[in-house]
Amino acid sequence: MKSLLVTLFAALLPLTSLAADTAAVPKTAHPMKIGIIGTGEIGGALARHWAAAGHQLLISSRHPEQLQALARELGPNVQTGTPREAAAFGDVVMLAVPYGSTPQVGRDYAAELKCKVVLDAGNPYPSRDGEMAVRDRQRGTGVASAEYLPGTRLVRAFNAINSGPLERQAFEKPERLGIPLAADDPAAMKIAEQLVSDAGFDPVPVGKLSRAREFDYGTPVYVRGMTAAELRKALGIK
Ligand SMILES: NC(=O)c1ccc[n+]([C@@H]2O[C@H](COP(=O)([O-])OP(=O)(O)OC[C@H]3O[C@@H](n4cnc5c(N)ncnc54)[C@H](OP(=O)(O)O)[C@@H]3O)[C@@H](O)[C@H]2O)c1
Repeated sequence: MKSLLVTLFAALLPLTSLAADTAAVPKTAHPMKIGIIGTGEIGGALARHWAAAGHQLLISSRHPEQLQALARELGPNVQTGTPREAAAFGDVVMLAVPYGSTPQVGRDYAAELKCKVVLDAGNPYPSRDGEMAVRDRQRGTGVASAEYLPGTRLVRAFNAINSGPLERQAFEKPERLGIPLAADDPAAMKIAEQLVSDAGFDPVPVGKLSRAREFDYGTPVYVRGMTAAELRKALGIK
């Protein structure tokens, strides 16, 4: 009898954990239209979380036909398009492209991005992005991205977490992972905080864009998988 119960429990376990997973994604209180430019590791993970939370998404690629399977998988609130269409669609635009492409994105989609909240996850890597990355690491990404994306309501977000934990550790228990944020526009910061929570993480507003350098590549908090409390302590935030 005991072994029968154990077998039954083992058989039901995958079903119960699946049900728990689905139920664990709360629907957002504030559905938004989000355009994603760069639907790779970072953009793809966020698309998954925000689609589950009930946001309307346009995920984009320079080859949008390659995203159709992903869009179908994510559900009816997700459509595909080009980067320009993503910039036009979103009230919020998530930018997750190789950092070297940021100036071109800012130039080419300036009209579509004007006055929009842009969350920028890019990190400069000299080996991938060339000379500009060396200079931008020195001056800090908050300052650099603001120059590349003028006229936007820029927030530095999701740059200090690796794609693995971003994809797999949403709604982590007992404590969620923290996501440091920097922005000059307080309303844009609030929107970013909401989207971090909807994705299953704890927002940690650090300050103005000039402070984004405190969680750039090479800092003690960069991709360390810290909780919000650990981040606040390390960054000296009350
Ligand atoms: N991976 C990580 O763990 C991680 C963590 C934190 C931050 N970051 C930073 O976040 C950014 C994205 O990283 P990722 O790992 O997600 O990169 P990825 O997997 O290579 O995805 C980048 C996406 O950007 C798109 N793209 C490239 N150039 C573009 C352009 N000129 N215009 C529009 N779209 C363009 C590509 O899509 P198409 O080719 O289909 O157009 C690609 O899917 C990088 O700056 C990275 O340093 C990465």
